[in-house]
Amino acid sequence: MAETDQALPPSDQLAAMNLTDTVEKHAFSDRVLIRSIVGRPDGGAGLAGQRVRAGGWVKTGREQGKGTFAFLELNDGSCPANLQVIVDAGLAVLSKLVATGTCVVVDGILKVPPEGTRQKIELRVEKVVSVGEVDPAKYPIPKTKLTLEFLRDHLHLRARTNTIAAIARIRNALAFATHSFFQEHNFLYVHTPILTTSDCEGAGEMFQVTTLISESEKLEKELIKNPPPSEVDIEAARQVVSERGEAVKQLKAAKASKSEITASVAELNKAKENLSKLEERSKLKPGIPKKDGKIDYTQDFFARQAFLTVSGQLQVETYACAVSNVYTFGPTFRAEHSHTSRHLAEFWMVEPEIAFADLQDDMNCAEAYVKYMCNWLLDKCLDDLQFMAKSYDKGCIDRLRMVASIPFVRISYTEAVELLEEAVKGGKQFENEVKWGIDLASEHERYLTEVKFQKPVIVYNYPKGIKAFYMRLNDDLKTVAAMDVLVPKVGELIGGSQREERYEVIRERILEVGLPLEPYEWYLDLRQYGTVKHCGFGLGFERMILFATGIENIRDVIPFPRYPGRADL
Ligand code: 4AD
Ligand code: MG
Repeated sequence: MAETDQALPPSDQLAAMNLTDTVEKHAFSDRVLIRSIVGRPDGGAGLAGQRVRAGGWVKTGREQGKGTFAFLELNDGSCPANLQVIVDAGLAVLSKLVATGTCVVVDGILKVPPEGTRQKIELRVEKVVSVGEVDPAKYPIPKTKLTLEFLRDHLHLRARTNTIAAIARIRNALAFATHSFFQEHNFLYVHTPILTTSDCEGAGEMFQVTTLISESEKLEKELIKNPPPSEVDIEAARQVVSERGEAVKQLKAAKASKSEITASVAELNKAKENLSKLEERSKLKPGIPKKDGKIDYTQDFFARQAFLTVSGQLQVETYACAVSNVYTFGPTFRAEHSHTSRHLAEFWMVEPEIAFADLQDDMNCAEAYVKYMCNWLLDKCLDDLQFMAKSYDKGCIDRLRMVASIPFVRISYTEAVELLEEAVKGGKQFENEVKWGIDLASEHERYLTEVKFQKPVIVYNYPKGIKAFYMRLNDDLKTVAAMDVLVPKVGELIGGSQREERYEVIRERILEVGLPLEPYEWYLDLRQYGTVKHCGFGLGFERMILFATGIENIRDVIPFPRYPGRADL
């Protein structure tokens, strides 16, 4: 990989910017964004003569003219391009400014640099306002080429690199595009729970959420510090209660004064309270609470087993079956031990759900959404895409253009298997055997989209045996109305389906796949009361970023990757 500091040409996205000759201060900061200078179509040249304050981190710095001045390439993350800054030795100790990673805030005047330089504008510093120094001997992110693997060990500093910053901007743009697309089409954004008690995919890949372990650890510590009362202690407390009871009785018999009796009753109550506290404490046992040999989840935080969600689909369906067009977009969690470059333990998913719509509508929506995101990036992030094309994947921009403009291929699962079988006959070797009924492996998906069709492919009508219980059973009783969108570079980007809306059929399916009915009673209610034809899908947000950027490993397109063995920060 390459980490370079080259200023990139401003992109088309900025062509629409207002070319007035005053640069606007950032609304919530006392400086201007570097993007508002160098991101203009004229590279900032039209701003010559203006006084501005700029701040950023030094990408490259060097002392020149025998130490009489320094050049700094300053970047504040607002765009991939840097602002060239020139500081005279009289204004600061230059050696403290030039180290990569130094943060500087400077006031200066924008000037057109001498002919023959790459920059269209540079900042001549009049005052160094502040410096956040870096000791280059210690800074873990020097200017040299750093691998993405290396950067994964420095998550807290990796956003300082051009690559991770560009990915962050692309990710941000895709999130905005997502909301924009669904809002334009009148979908309601619904926040589904992250903590859940139902397993959407029924695949048993959920992270459990429990306080039983921490509670039991706390208790163990507490019991060591403060041992539970012994039988002798409790017997003694019981004795006190009976003595005080006796005292009350005697006072009453002797017709003692009211105040005497009240005081004695109070003493008795205190003794009773003490006894019950001791009895309560004596019941405390170290370890996870058990009942009938099993963990007693009634004592857990939610009084039942709970998990991190693998998908917001089931919950978002409750809103689709009431307000018709909805989507959820949030983190999802899967405890699968996959070490692939396409899987994370925590990833983000975009899940629309559409009422009064079938599998065709679902495919149409998925295709339109993916195309919309491609166009959005081409329109708004061309400079970052150019960086990706230069540093990682020559073809990424063409791929986005292609996907944005051509119709996706649509083939049934059965056709897909036939094509794969043909390929095998023609000499193609797959690691996983191809025959009707298999779950398509990543190598099969990539063959279809990258080799056979060289464009996105939607495969639909999968065998019911390999898909989740909620997908609508087709009339052949063998397949379900599922669809996966496969794209070059990634393979499966989207998984979706028309949902089974028939009460009896879905009830049967739950039992057939061996799931208990009880946790899905509420889900069945959606079919029992006012059922409606509906469909939806889930798009793996990080996979979309892989597709757009050409980055190879999914761990590099999420700010804080979580995967087996790693959850830094
Ligand atoms: O195909 P999946 O499992 O579908 C669902 O979860 C459905 N409930 C969605 C729905 O219909 N509302 O996951 C959807 C997408 C996949 O196509 C893939 O892009 C992504 O989520 N995905 C992952 N991305 C990163 N890491 C993982 N471990 C992923 N598992 C799935
Ligand atoms: Mg899937």
